[in-house]
Amino acid sequence: METAPTLPFQIMVYWWGKCRLAQAAFEEEPMSPHQIKGVIFDLDGVLVSTDNCHYLGWKRMADEEGIPFDREINQRLRGVSRMESLEIILEKAGRAYTREEKEALAARKNAYYVELIGNLRREDVLPGALDTLALLRQMGIRMAIGSSSRNTPLILKQIGLEDAFDGIADGNRIARSKPDPEVFVLAARLLALPPENCLVVEDADAGIEAAAAAGMRALGVGFASANHKAAWRAGNLAEVDWTQILTPV
Ligand code: G6P
Ligand code: MG
Repeated sequence: METAPTLPFQIMVYWWGKCRLAQAAFEEEPMSPHQIKGVIFDLDGVLVSTDNCHYLGWKRMADEEGIPFDREINQRLRGVSRMESLEIILEKAGRAYTREEKEALAARKNAYYVELIGNLRREDVLPGALDTLALLRQMGIRMAIGSSSRNTPLILKQIGLEDAFDGIADGNRIARSKPDPEVFVLAARLLALPPENCLVVEDADAGIEAAAAAGMRALGVGFASANHKAAWRAGNLAEVDWTQILTPV
């Protein structure tokens, strides 16, 4: 003869049902471990052309100080923080600078740079960048900025992209700049995604290194299109085949 289920048994069944529901909700959107769900964009040299403004700012300061500085040395500053950039420039200086002097030099360069980026317009956004942002938004891909620049908010405002991202990780929010992964780890956290589901778009070798250190794949554009550590490479964003990148493997 069948007996009615006991109360503890009913409680067990109730909780088992609850757990299944929670599991189903979690599994609702099955995600391949390699599927790209979020894209983290570096800013300078990826979305907007600020390279020349950085160069002119440093050049003006270096000339005033009598420190040799040219476009070749400038290449080493790509993706590197303001103070680390200054240290590279000072390698050619004829004397040692105190900490206070270094801070004054960096501030002076930044004032020149800010003056120059005051002229940045929507037209300075690099080829394919606006179409890429629109396409990824339409596809439901989360997007963040991962830049070493402390001028990120100013630049985004200048080009009218201040509301285009789900998260902004920039030089104001990190202690260590690329090739340290900190800025990308923060960006992924802002997107609430694990690193393996994030793609970094970078133009600097230091940024490709940082992406690898964060456990993320990278798309190298511009200068970094020659970097073989990048999973994908393109001259600029207009040349990227997003269907190929976003198709789960
Ligand atoms: C970017 C640029 C670097 C620059 C750094 C800091 O990563 O590629 O060349 O040094 O930002 O920029 P900031 O605007 O903070 O001086
Ligand atoms: Mg860059």
